[in-house]
Amino acid sequence: MEIMPESLTRDENAANDNKSFFITTPIFYVNDAPHIGHAYTEVATDVLARWHRQSGDDTWFLTGTDEHGQKILRTATANGVTPKEWADRLVESAWRPLIDTINISNDDFIRTTDARHEEGVAKFLQKLYDDGHIYAGEFEALYCVGCEEFKPKSEIVDGTGAFEGEKVCAIHSKPLELLQEKNYFFKMSAFQDRLLALYEARPDFVQPASARNEVIAFVQQGLEDLSISRTSFDWGIPIPWDSSHVTYVWFDALLNYATAIGYGSDNEQFARRWPATHIVGKDILRFHAVIWPAMLMAAGVAVPDHVYAHGWLLVGGEKMSKSKLTGIAPNEITDTFGSDAFRYYFMRAISFGQDGSFSWEDLAARYQAELANGFGNLASRVLAMNAKYFGSVQPEAGVESDEDRAIRELADSVTAAADAHIESFAVHEAIAEIWKLVDALNGYITSQEPWALAKNEDQRERLATVLATATEGLRALAELLHPVIPLATQKLWVALGAEEALGALADQPLRAAGNWNRLPAGTPQQPLAVLFPRIETDESK
Ligand code: ME8
Ligand code: MG
Repeated sequence: MEIMPESLTRDENAANDNKSFFITTPIFYVNDAPHIGHAYTEVATDVLARWHRQSGDDTWFLTGTDEHGQKILRTATANGVTPKEWADRLVESAWRPLIDTINISNDDFIRTTDARHEEGVAKFLQKLYDDGHIYAGEFEALYCVGCEEFKPKSEIVDGTGAFEGEKVCAIHSKPLELLQEKNYFFKMSAFQDRLLALYEARPDFVQPASARNEVIAFVQQGLEDLSISRTSFDWGIPIPWDSSHVTYVWFDALLNYATAIGYGSDNEQFARRWPATHIVGKDILRFHAVIWPAMLMAAGVAVPDHVYAHGWLLVGGEKMSKSKLTGIAPNEITDTFGSDAFRYYFMRAISFGQDGSFSWEDLAARYQAELANGFGNLASRVLAMNAKYFGSVQPEAGVESDEDRAIRELADSVTAAADAHIESFAVHEAIAEIWKLVDALNGYITSQEPWALAKNEDQRERLATVLATATEGLRALAELLHPVIPLATQKLWVALGAEEALGALADQPLRAAGNWNRLPAGTPQQPLAVLFPRIETDESK
């Protein structure tokens, strides 16, 4: 085999590699409006989706809402409306608007009340029933409406305060309800060995490693069959062969990932997209890493590529939640800092996969130091010097010095390293890697002192080389940071003249961002709007 220079092979990958990348968020309950925990999942998934899309992968990004079940029914009833009216109201007033608030690039938005979903669920259930995976039985157990789940013993704890003496859910701290019903059951126990073999054979199926260990330990304890229908209320998808039952809300909800891409209705679309990469919070890991693959195995459908469980945003050491009223609305942050800063902050400050705490002080400090001073200032200084010394065009680089080469090589190596981090879901590491180029370029400007070179006509070529190198660095940064801060990088892209010279930013092959001298000398530049304006905080007012 012929050995290719590294940059060339990466180029080719960017151009030819059309591998399918289907990524999903959980579908969120519409009992209440979103808080920054939901926005966190959306942003992380969006950064991954944008990265893959810009790299040329055949990307599809799905999000949506989970609208059936007791939790929604009770909220609607308490508010004096039907559950469908309630869901419509919350979807239109809160959940769809969230997509714009934080600038999410989803390709589809599924609601579990969509006809396409209800029909797909009925087909899936009927198939499992016909193939002997479902039986009628009787059941009595403790149920948490917050989780919409019969709780395993390990997650039942003694209540405190108002719930002293009662058994409560370890996540929601609310009393459990003893339910006894005739249900249909999915023979999930039959899949225990196949699931364990899956976790063993594909160590990256459940990530991160802590999540994988937890799932393996859970399944090793032994799997029970799963109750998949309810008769005590009717807000759900009817069981196709017995309309006195509705489908258990989780069985219904998990299927959104399949029905949205044409399960049972559009085989071509389904074959093109499936299997998925699922991004979820660790609260719903077990549903995605145990129940969902077992359902798929039963139906003879491939299991997902990956289930990645991220950590929780904490408030006072506890999971931020709708039910505990500890949520912060995303627009409380974006109204002041903008969506780019929201996205950057949560992706950079929290190690993806671990819990983290939000703090206004930390957000304000990183905004100022990293976005405004680190990146924004770099862009405005370089473009201002191009304007002043070269009449706002891309300067022509001359002989390359060691310092210039170091910048060029760094751009190439951070691109490869960031891409590898994205591949392993380490979004924070990818950004930290790219930020090495921001810091190096700031250091380069300081050490090369273009303003001093400009005073000496003999140094004209050196001045042009330094500014050409710095500008090319900005071009690479615009491409690399576009998935994280789409608005600021777009402004920079236009100011660099790159929109005219190279085409749309979102079309630039991301895995080739480190390739050099892409902006032709002489490319006209535009004035740059301030990327991250100074924020008037209460103290500075
Ligand atoms: O569980 N920190 O919906 P849900 C980080 N409908 N992420 C958080 C968070 C926090 N404090 N709070 C919520 C459901 N999330 C089901 C899902 S999927 C087939 C059905 C995010 O509205 C995180 O992604 O309770 C978590 O898994 C999800 O919201 C739960 O949203
Ligand atoms: Mg929840």
